[in-house]
Amino acid sequence: MRLGVNIDHVATLREARGGLDPEPVFAALIAEASGADAIVAHLREDRRHINDEDLFLLKGVIRTRLNLEMSIAPEIVEIACRIKPDQATLVPEKRQELTTEGGLDIVFHQQKIKKVVKKLNESGIEVSLFIDPSKKQINASQKTGAKMLELHTGAYANAKNKTEEDKYFKELKSAVRFAGKLGFQVFAGHGLNYTNTARIAAIDGIEELNIGHSIISRAVFTGLGNAIKEMKELMR
Ligand code: PXP
Repeated sequence: MRLGVNIDHVATLREARGGLDPEPVFAALIAEASGADAIVAHLREDRRHINDEDLFLLKGVIRTRLNLEMSIAPEIVEIACRIKPDQATLVPEKRQELTTEGGLDIVFHQQKIKKVVKKLNESGIEVSLFIDPSKKQINASQKTGAKMLELHTGAYANAKNKTEEDKYFKELKSAVRFAGKLGFQVFAGHGLNYTNTARIAAIDGIEELNIGHSIISRAVFTGLGNAIKEMKELMR
């Protein structure tokens, strides 16, 4: 199973002082050298961490894949078409949220998303949709032309007790199976950490996990390379 490492919070730390350190591009290179299979970054409309320049640099230097998380705002879509990441992951975005709060509502935004998928595909960018693990959203995703889905693991990760966790785990497992049957490549992510990832990694049919906050947090104490190696180890 592949690991995409989200490096947004390296840039968050840089923005805390508004200077140059720490440099997200260095983080990406260390991540690749330590076993990351993709580099993930979210260009937010308010540019609170990763900025346009970071992405052009990342695209130029990384050797794995650049997975750009992005909203469907026209300005961001235009920028994505210029940067040409290997993959774009479409996410909902609210300005005030601390992090992406829920999956993209494909049922509601289907026509808009279909157009964005087409535009990105025409620029040579593969598209993944970040959705809640529900059949309704998966069915709607089929009509957008996207070939990849990232299932939101946030509800599972934030479960208050074992019963709740089991319930969300079951939901994820059946969503993976359903999406796989429809021919999607299936990924998962959000809120995954060193205690809750192994269970998700054991689900047959998930090809990739995208993880950010827990890895960057651990890196403060152990170094980024060790934090990534440890995560890859527990995914095995
Ligand atoms: N996948 C998607 C689509 C996300 O939006 C995020 C957060 O940027 C992540 C994965 C990583 O989430 P976390 O930082 O909680 O590991």
